[in-house]
Amino acid sequence: MFFPCTINVDKIIINGPCKITGSVKISGAKNAALPLIFASLLTEEPLRLTNIPHLQDVTTAMSLLGRLGVKLELNEQLSINVQAKALSSCRAPYELVKTMRASILVLGPLLARLGEAEVSLPGGCAIGTRPVNLHIKGLEEMGARIVIEEGYIKARIETPSGRLQGARIFMDMVSVTGTENIMMAATLAEGTTIIENAAREPEVTDLAVCLNAMGAKISGAGTSEITIEGVEQLHGATHHVIADRIEAGTFLVAAAATRSKIRVRQVIPHHLDAVLKKLEEAGAVIELGDDYIDLDMQGRKPRAVTIDTAPYPAFPTDMQAQFILLNSVADGSATVTENIFENRFMHVQELQRMGANIELKGHTAVVHGVEHLNGAPVMATDLRASAGLVLAGLVAKGETVIDRIYHIDRGYDCIEEKLSQMGGEIQRVSGRQYQQMLAAAAG
Ligand code: EPZ
Repeated sequence: MFFPCTINVDKIIINGPCKITGSVKISGAKNAALPLIFASLLTEEPLRLTNIPHLQDVTTAMSLLGRLGVKLELNEQLSINVQAKALSSCRAPYELVKTMRASILVLGPLLARLGEAEVSLPGGCAIGTRPVNLHIKGLEEMGARIVIEEGYIKARIETPSGRLQGARIFMDMVSVTGTENIMMAATLAEGTTIIENAAREPEVTDLAVCLNAMGAKISGAGTSEITIEGVEQLHGATHHVIADRIEAGTFLVAAAATRSKIRVRQVIPHHLDAVLKKLEEAGAVIELGDDYIDLDMQGRKPRAVTIDTAPYPAFPTDMQAQFILLNSVADGSATVTENIFENRFMHVQELQRMGANIELKGHTAVVHGVEHLNGAPVMATDLRASAGLVLAGLVAKGETVIDRIYHIDRGYDCIEEKLSQMGGEIQRVSGRQYQQMLAAAAG
């Protein structure tokens, strides 16, 4: 793996081992905010979204919409007004799509709204090949004509009415954004669409709730069969983005791994059922409120727990790296099997540099708990891997320096500030500041 020179890239420095305490407010969910922002393309009227997380991916989504001629306003109260009144383009360029795969979510809305769309293929990603064949197949079954040319998906509606046609679509694999893309396109189709083997993630349901507030007729979201009765047009609405269950889960594992007691606030506890069950198996005492979760692991060493990732409501792949870290400092050994993405163990070799005892066998990691980890310079490779490394820095003895943290800014809203407010010895430094620190240390 080639790592470009990172002198100018921010780093996170952690001095461990740390305890964390108190409570943390969870931000809006990245994986809900992105499809919601792109849903604005389905109407000429304004869509107001509140509880928007302050993330690089949200900024990228807004730049992409700006390129299409959408009017956007972001204001301090973490809300945005989006209005796709007059679209000036139907093309999502490579230079933006390559920075954020979720940009593929403009395909369905643009095609349904304008009758044509040109979206760059996202290309590969650190965690897997991640094809979009199911998105394309679903839209073709609704009557779209799609060709792949010069790295772009070029889609056009050639039906007599110029609208997509309702269809029964069976998803060969459960795909979150695949379900979301087809669901959005089907809102403006002629007739009824049924998506079978649909994704049941809370982010899919949140999108359906917003689309229904815009005048769509969707039922069954959250189950594996979603029905969408197409309508002529959608109107404006206001929608509050759900809390980020993965951010919440990350903080809860931070508390379990550091044997701390914390509260995560402004969450929907049952969105984390599978994660909380594993944390209880690891020995954590958990109490739930309407919109908060208390976790207490004080004075107890976590127990190793077996993990198998699978689509919601099973254990989320986006929490896999964090639990590999938890098992690395737990009592006993356990396996962590990644069933969703074929290359999502990049964090393992970095954790081994910190003294973790992990064997990789195909898509299973066999983790043997060790007494402690040691601080070290490590490299972030993707969003959730970097979260695992931050947690490792909190439990490790000594200094950990995490490089290429732009990965973490894509999906965590000010994670180091939130952790330092809870007592974590963690800070962000610029590449230059770090060079100066090294020079000063060398005397
Ligand atoms: C969503 O990605 C999330 N991203 C991912 O979160 C998350 O890991 C993933 O769902 C699984 O939960 C967003 O919501 C923006 P999939 P998505 O389509 O929709 C295969 C994070 O860390 N597949 O459900 O791209 C695919 O290769 C990110 O926040 C096809 O083969 O994932 C994978 O093996 C990372 N063909 C499986 O399905 C397709 O057309 C599930 O992928 C589509 C998917």
